[in-house]
Amino acid sequence: MQEKALRAVVVGAGTMGTTLAKLMAVNGVKVTVVDTNPHVLETSRQRLATHAATTCFATDLKMTEVPDFVIESVTENVEVKQKVVAQIEASVNDATIIMTNTSGIPIDEIGSIMRVPQRFVGTHFFNPADIVPTVEVVPGSHTEVETVEKACGWLTQLGKRPAVLKTCVPGFVANRIQHAVMRECLSLLEKGVVEAEALDDIVQYSIGVRLALNGPLCQRDLNGLDTHLHIARYLYPDLDASQQPAALLEEYVAKGRLGAKVGLGFYRWSDESLARHQAHERSKLKRIIELAAQDSHGDEP
Ligand SMILES: NC(=O)c1ccc[n+]([C@@H]2O[C@H](COP(=O)([O-])OP(=O)(O)OC[C@H]3O[C@@H](n4cnc5c(N)ncnc54)[C@H](O)[C@@H]3O)[C@@H](O)[C@H]2O)c1
Repeated sequence: MQEKALRAVVVGAGTMGTTLAKLMAVNGVKVTVVDTNPHVLETSRQRLATHAATTCFATDLKMTEVPDFVIESVTENVEVKQKVVAQIEASVNDATIIMTNTSGIPIDEIGSIMRVPQRFVGTHFFNPADIVPTVEVVPGSHTEVETVEKACGWLTQLGKRPAVLKTCVPGFVANRIQHAVMRECLSLLEKGVVEAEALDDIVQYSIGVRLALNGPLCQRDLNGLDTHLHIARYLYPDLDASQQPAALLEEYVAKGRLGAKVGLGFYRWSDESLARHQAHERSKLKRIIELAAQDSHGDEP
């Protein structure tokens, strides 16, 4: 007997919502995308191209059929997310799994207003969600084991690599690491140690290419933990440990220097240079992921 197609709703049709919808559509999930902004919905429809034909678009959460799961992917703001999660809960039944694509807001904080937080779980996808394999699966303190298992099952069905955290910490795993790296990068720029281009070149073609093949712990095993310890002993006192975002970052954002989307960040961007950069990014990412998946690590710890 043929299995019934999964039904999903993605709330928020921005950068992430659109690639989440694409992931669903490509894998035969019946998906509805909801966004309160009709212009964003129209852009999403265009970006989905041929997949738009099998995707439903709506500006409100009225459900004609109860979905198996709903993923909220709205603006990264706790009040907005709480409101959206409450609306989702009011429009589905108690069996529907509700997921949040927050980048790192604690799950209990978003779920604090929920009637049934047992069916609420963090599923942190990476951009573009239809290509990057890992999804951090983050249970809150009320999340049932069955919810985590169901979420992981669906993610695997969608071709993802679910990675379950044992406990929820702000920023989860990936953003804590990403921000630790960026804090040091910005500090090096502020101290005038290196120019932006040279810093990017060093990180991309040394640590970056290696990390695509080996996680940091596996990499350290290959290098030798004693060597790592010797370096850590003299280096840590000198690393940036600021408790506030870098002044350089505050200054750029205050001046409207927001990155490629406005034409200026660390680099200057034109419509052409941005289009050129993005043109090959998806296919290059797919090639790197294919290579990384061929890689074999040591025996299990
Ligand atoms: N951009 C990334 O690289 C990335 C990566 C991983 C996770 N995330 C997370 O994904 C989520 C979405 O991020 P994004 O980059 O797609 O943001 P975005 O700004 O591109 O999209 C957010 C969308 O939410 C919509 N929205 C706001 N309130 C709404 C409501 N009440 N109902 C329906 N829609 C509403 C907005 O109209 C907007 O289109 C955030 O939690 C973010 O932290 C982003």
